[in-house]
Amino acid sequence: MLKVEKLVKHYPLGGGIFNRDPLVVRAVEDVSFSVGAGETLCIVGESGCGKSTVARLLMRLVDPTNGRVLLEGTDIASLKKNELRNWRRRMQMVFQDPYSSLNPRLTAAQIITEPVENFERLGHRKRQALAAELLQKVGLAPEIMHRLPSELSGGQRQRLAIARALSLKPSIIIADEAVSALDVSVQAQILNLLMDLQEQTGIAFVFISHDLGVVEHIGHRVAVMYLGRIVELAPCEALFTKPVHPYTEALIAAAPVPDPTRVRLEAPVEGEVPSPINPPSGCAFHPRCPFAVERCRTTVPPSVPMADGRVVACHVRAPSAEFPGRQEMAGSAQLASVAGPHGSVL
Ligand SMILES: Nc1ncnc2c1ncn2[C@@H]1O[C@H](COP(=O)(O)OP(=O)(O)OP(=O)(O)O)[C@@H](O)[C@H]1O
Ligand code: SF4
Ligand SMILES: [Mg+2]
Repeated sequence: MLKVEKLVKHYPLGGGIFNRDPLVVRAVEDVSFSVGAGETLCIVGESGCGKSTVARLLMRLVDPTNGRVLLEGTDIASLKKNELRNWRRRMQMVFQDPYSSLNPRLTAAQIITEPVENFERLGHRKRQALAAELLQKVGLAPEIMHRLPSELSGGQRQRLAIARALSLKPSIIIADEAVSALDVSVQAQILNLLMDLQEQTGIAFVFISHDLGVVEHIGHRVAVMYLGRIVELAPCEALFTKPVHPYTEALIAAAPVPDPTRVRLEAPVEGEVPSPINPPSGCAFHPRCPFAVERCRTTVPPSVPMADGRVVACHVRAPSAEFPGRQEMAGSAQLASVAGPHGSVL
């Protein structure tokens, strides 16, 4: 349904010596993925790795430097202004902080019916009926419709933001850190609400989070980003039980383990995320990677599809046919995918 092809977003900052070599933030580099109807694709990664920029590109809130976003086969860059408006009905966004994304002067009823009223005028009775229906969908009492956002709890506000996003019956919702600001118990309620809505309506989600526990709960597939690139994209269970990319492995190792029966992986990632203004050469993870070989310093690893349906960008764990030395490395990929990532594969 949604397809992203080789998406790139660079933000020029100006500067450099005599402006000859302007500084550029490489926020998103060569990102490709697809999302099917009724599917939840999660995007995870440390702060600044480009997750929100991907969301903004999907919504065409910013234009890509390169690459394409296709919704049901249509390249959104080719849409004219009025077509884009109609297209936006099918794709909606929910943000981390509903308090700043909801108009503080409007009542809950006005907030959730506003998107529909941008397309057609509703009379008072129709508006009340639609508001009551949407509130019920997200588990809020109809009495809430007369309240202002400041008169609601954080969880209620986020439900309201979801009701607003649902009002135009979109086929996909982009949720950027939509539960990150909430208490754990409220987080779980909102995640369950999203999963119920998906079951009832077949809606797709692109769910962005830095929290692996949340992702494991809600995701069907997970894309792990590092410095603007997807380093591993895998079905959720496969990713958590058998991460292949060294960065995924380290992220999972660093995350708290809610399930005491699950074996904790070793070697959490060390060191700081480098700057996207001057990222390391080759594989951007190489300064932090215990498995780095010489090629990692010089050549960006291509995304290689693996037998179990995942795609991994790593010279060592997923060697590609393009590079010499493939034969001996292919054995190591086998080892990584069959025996698990715990041992060194070098
Ligand atoms: N408008 C902009 N101009 C310049 N740089 C930008 C702009 N927007 C984002 N960036 C930079 O692009 C990189 C990716 O930012 P982005 O907001 O996509 O990260 P993120 O993964 O969502 O991080 P977080 O988890 O903190 O929300 C960061 O280095 C950020 O500073
Ligand atoms: S390509 Fe090299 S540096 Fe990058 S993750 Fe793989 S082994 Fe580590
Ligand atoms: Mg963000």
